Amino acid sequence: MAKIAILGFGTVGSGVLEVLRTNADKAARRAGQPVEVKYICDIRDFSSHPDAALFVKTLDPILNDPEVTAVVETIGGTKVAYPYVKAVLESGRHVATSNKELVATHGAELLALAREKGVCFLFEASVGGGTPVITPMYQCLAANNLSEVRGIVNGTTNFMLTKMEREGMDFEGALKLAQSLGYAETIDPSADVDGIDAQRKICILASILFGRHFYPQNVAARGIRDVSVKDIALARRQNAAVKLIAWAKQTEDGPALAVEPMLVPRESQLAGVDDVFNAVMVRGDILGDVMFYGKGAGKLPTASAVTADVLDALRNGGSIHESLFWTDSEPMEGVYEDAS
Ligand code: HSE
Repeated sequence: MAKIAILGFGTVGSGVLEVLRTNADKAARRAGQPVEVKYICDIRDFSSHPDAALFVKTLDPILNDPEVTAVVETIGGTKVAYPYVKAVLESGRHVATSNKELVATHGAELLALAREKGVCFLFEASVGGGTPVITPMYQCLAANNLSEVRGIVNGTTNFMLTKMEREGMDFEGALKLAQSLGYAETIDPSADVDGIDAQRKICILASILFGRHFYPQNVAARGIRDVSVKDIALARRQNAAVKLIAWAKQTEDGPALAVEPMLVPRESQLAGVDDVFNAVMVRGDILGDVMFYGKGAGKLPTASAVTADVLDALRNGGSIHESLFWTDSEPMEGVYEDAS
């Protein structure tokens, strides 16, 4: 029996518990043993929750329990998640996380620590929600030299652009709808609408692509605040759609990456990606282009990916993930050149 802990019992963390219970047999087959959630760490009061006995408020009981071999981190942000994940890896336990801010900010350091300790640090859910992108890049495409990734990695803005195009909503109306459906944050939606979420995600994909860490503060990102209904109508007349595109590619001058709203021709597969769906194209020198498409956000889609990672860690230990690694690099001054 494998015992694990979940850090952060919000939308995704509760989804992981649900997935492990709903698909307990499948999880046991995949992990090579039954998997039990022994602790849930969350500072909030869950005393009336049916699983109240599992809840702890700090990491200590988890670190002090030798039965726990893997941890799922779904706290989000870096303030608590970073020291917690570092401590878990230092203690020789696997970590699976959905936290893109954590990976985009501290990925190189945490991968190096995991490698030193012989454990996994896995984060498939950090880009594309439930849509596999990261694992295919470092496993299925391992025989290719990868030169480019390009795609729609923020479901909220894609939903808003879809509403603006199909229903003629303006930015404010589309934002209000996205907020009322729980896609965009009510108080401060800037992570989505200003491209910050997509900036973190393209940093993660670029770090895999180029083998060294790319820091969000060095990457140019524009969101969709300035996209008007008029722009979208103009795009339509040119047989194109406006999409928030995150891209990274190898150029003659070196790596280039950015996030920006772009005109995407109708014949491009990316133009047909609507609502909260995500799609990422990866270019390999042997395979050519391959596209990953699916649900990019939400409780169960994201829990699907992070749960698969923890099962993979339990099954394989640290050994097979030697290929998921990139080196650290100093944050560069200014932003990377826009070479699109
Ligand atoms: N806010 C993100 C999105 C959630 O809309 O895509 C998934 O990372």
